[in-house]
Amino acid sequence: MTEKKQLPPIAIGSDHAGFELKNNIIRTLSMSGYTVTNCGTDGPESVDYPDFAEKVATIVTATPGTIGVLICGTGIGMSIAANKHHGIRAALVYNEETAALAHEHNNANILCLGARELSPEKALTLVSIFLDSAFENGRHQRRIDKISALDH
Ligand code: RB5
Repeated sequence: MTEKKQLPPIAIGSDHAGFELKNNIIRTLSMSGYTVTNCGTDGPESVDYPDFAEKVATIVTATPGTIGVLICGTGIGMSIAANKHHGIRAALVYNEETAALAHEHNNANILCLGARELSPEKALTLVSIFLDSAFENGRHQRRIDKISALDH
């Protein structure tokens, strides 16, 4: 009998530039069996991305094992804002390789995407690659410990 993979809970948020992609990702992940917490925003009205970075970062730090997804126009603002929170390693990814390495080497706990820079199909592929990869530990843990030391 094959063992069923334990899926991490997901917390996802976006600003107005990313809300359609966010809803698309929520639909896809929910259909794949993930439990997804939607932190908004849920419409095209202009909002400030740090507010949504904070909501997702708060869930990710409060519930270890949770993976965050943050989306804005470029993904840059979300990654800057999320990385201000203790214990957060937010990675802005833009292709298949960076999506895998963000997990394998950096053990990122928040994935950031630029909705204006990626097609919806590409964004979904990057989410899936990130979630399907695993942290490699070893020398990478030593480097992450050094990042954690900078956090204090
Ligand atoms: C909003 O227009 C835009 O600035 C935001 O979505 C994001 O790209 C910031 O980094």
